[in-house]
This record gives sequence, C-alpha cells and structure tokens, in this order.
Amino acid sequence: MNAEALLERELERFEREHPRSRELAEEAKGPLLSGVPMPWMIRWPGGFPVFAAEAQGARFTDVDGHEYVDFCLGDTAAMTGHSPEPTVRALREQAPKGITLMLPSEDALWVGRELTRRFGLARWQFALTATDANRFAIRLARELTGRPKILVFNWCYHGSVDETVATLRDGSVVAREGNVGPPVPLDETTRVVEWNDAEALERELAHGDVACVLAEPALTNIGIVLPAPGYHDTLRAATRDTGTLLIIDETHTICAGPGGYTAAYGLEPDLLTIGKPIAAGVPASAYGFSADVAERLESLLPSDERADVGGIGGTVAANVLSLATTRATLAEVLTDEAFGKMIALGERFERGVSDVIERHGLPWHVTRLGCRVEYLFRAERPRTGSEAAAGGNALLDRLIHLYALNRAILLTPFHNMALMSPATTEEDVDLHTRVFDDAARELA
Ligand SMILES: Cc1ncc(COP(=O)(O)O)c(C=O)c1O
Repeated sequence: MNAEALLERELERFEREHPRSRELAEEAKGPLLSGVPMPWMIRWPGGFPVFAAEAQGARFTDVDGHEYVDFCLGDTAAMTGHSPEPTVRALREQAPKGITLMLPSEDALWVGRELTRRFGLARWQFALTATDANRFAIRLARELTGRPKILVFNWCYHGSVDETVATLRDGSVVAREGNVGPPVPLDETTRVVEWNDAEALERELAHGDVACVLAEPALTNIGIVLPAPGYHDTLRAATRDTGTLLIIDETHTICAGPGGYTAAYGLEPDLLTIGKPIAAGVPASAYGFSADVAERLESLLPSDERADVGGIGGTVAANVLSLATTRATLAEVLTDEAFGKMIALGERFERGVSDVIERHGLPWHVTRLGCRVEYLFRAERPRTGSEAAAGGNALLDRLIHLYALNRAILLTPFHNMALMSPATTEEDVDLHTRVFDDAARELA
C-alpha cells in the first residue's frame, strides 16, 4: 500500500480507538491556547494528542485504557523510566520537609561532587531546565570573554535559548523557520556552521567575537549525527586557539553513559550543561565549569551586594526538592549498572531495525548512541545537520509514528528516536521490531 493510503487508514483507526482523548482535545480548546498546553503539541501525528492517565517504568496508559511501551520517555526527561522508586521515595521524604527555601541543602554538595566524578568538571551551579542551564552558561561565557556572540551548529537544538534558534540560509544566519518572536535578528548574536565542517568552524571563530561554542557532542535533535573521526579534537583545538569557551550540552548525550559522551570519549569542555533526566523528570538541571574557568569566574564576578542582580539563577532554582531527587536519581537510578543494561537494549533495538531494513531492501538506515537509537528514511548516514534535515520525510515520519502508536508504542515526536530506560525490557524492544517489520512490509 502506498504511504498516503496507509496514513489515511491509520488516522481512521487512531480516531476510532481514542474517543476520550478526542473529547478532551475538543474540550481543551476552551481553556488552552490552540487546545494544547504547549504549542508544539498540535503536531502529534494523530491530529490530537493522546491524553495520558498514568505512567510507570517504561509504560504508560491513556484515558481510553490503552497501555503503551514508551520509547519517547519524555524526550529523555524520563530516561530513568517513569517514577523510579528511589526518586519517588526522595520526593516523598523531602516534600513534607520543605520544597523551596532559597537556602542551600547538603544535597547540593553531594550532587556537585557526583557530577564532578561523572563529568570531570570542577564546580557546579543549578537551574531547573536544560534551557536555563544553557542560557546561564552562555551569559557567563560572554561575561568572561567580553565577546558578544555564540557559535552553534546548523540544525542544533538546545532548548528555547534565543541565540540558538538560528540556521543558515544561503550562507547567512537567520531565524529558524517557525521561531516565534526572536528578540533581535539572529546574525547579531549567533554564528552558525555545519557540524563536522572543520574549515567553517575555524573561519567563523577567527573573527574573534565568539564567546563560546555551544555544542552537543553528537547532534541528537535532527536525527543522530555523529562526529567525524577527529572532529572533537579540531573543535577543542580551534576553540582553545581563539580563546573561545567550549560548552558541551550533555542533556541528550547522557545516553552514551553515566558521564555522558564527555566521559565516554574523554572530552575536555570548559563548561558543561545537563538537564532533563538527572532528577527523573522533576525539574532540575546543572551547569559545570572547569577549574580554570571557575577560578576566572570567581575572580571576575561581583562578590558583594551586586552579585547576580539579574539574569542568572531564579527564585526556585536549586530548590531542595530538585536536589534531593537529583541525588536519589544519580545515586540509585542512573547508575553505571543501569547504563550497561540500557546500552545492551539499545544494541538489540538497533539490530532489530537494521535487520528489517535489510530484509525489505529499504533505502533507510539506523544510528545508535548508547541507549538512544534513531532511524532515518535515507540510505546514507548524514554528516551534517543539513543533510539530516534534507533526508527527513514528513509523510513517512508521521506514518511510522502513528502506525506505532496504534500498536501500543510511543516514539519521540518529530524524529524516529527511541530511548531505553532501566525499566525497558527485551520484549518491549522486540515488540517495536515486529511493528516496524509490519510497517516496512506494508510499505515495501
Ligand atoms: C540538547 C538539548 N539541550 C537542551 C534542551 C532543552 O531542554 P529543556 O526543554 O528541558 O529546557 C534540549 C531539549 O530537547 C536538548 O535536546
């Protein structure tokens, strides 16, 4: 069957089998802008989102009583599995003893030490989202270098950080299509180069006006685009040579291991940011500094009544509940042992998809980074964000997501990404392989 006809059939099935979600989606048009809690939710593939009822481990149920295997896992925020027992225990124990105080707790020290053990950076600060961690890291990098701009990679995503929602069009930096209300034209704040393009990186840094490069160690938000051999060495050398700070955003690439890609591949960032799963989805994030950067910042930042008059931090950042749950999650959920299991499941998922692609002779491919797996509907592995974006196929993306959803599987929206949690099982992975096989057979 062709993809359009299949999509039509799947849309009908989705609508038929989700009457309560449909009803709630209609009702939501009253109190919620566009009928959704966040604008992007209008893009769920069935025309309306599935309304969740409950989630536990690698599964959730919806308001129509369907149970799903969740490979989206809150787009990494629930990479721990939903509501893991140690985090819930910490929530239960901490919540009656205070939620937010504007005072430090001992947990902040434990978490700081643990992040140093994992990632190698010397000192840490806390925020609530990865977006904020990135925003604060950028501001500090600007302050430290006295330079106005940042550099990001084409088709990156680092949250709703104004400076990063930029792209290249005919060689010029412009706002990404769909970027709502940018405060200033993006070329005033941002330089953009293609991932893996060493020459462009060196050329753009040579201007001497870039405070920091903000990079995921592998792009993960436009499919997975791995670094070419030697690219991280080039990135580190080019940033050092030009006095540019290197911020590595490990929010997604924590999937590579307990210390993220940084520890797994021996990166040496000046700053590092991470959010999403560190407290199993309770809002919490952190940003760290190398010893050298920490020292320079400590001598530069005001240490009197002018300290942080605005711009960095936030009233409820570093709250005691976030830090208690981060501690429990790092100590007992996202452990070295858990990563071993999650990565083995990632390998199983990758093998399953790769076998299906081969068996049906499809011009697709699959890529894995630790416990994160992604398939793209093009034969060649992309080397840049642009190649990955050009290889996107909106129709097939929508169809596969809906096909999976109708068969009890949730994939990450906007790309075909699956994440393994400590609660994910081999049976869950094999269910996806069977469903993917069925979809491929119907399409081939
Ligand atoms: C690499 C990366 N950094 C930062 C963020 C922002 O995370 P949050 O939306 O939780 O602030 C995201 C979100 O997808 C991300 O993928």
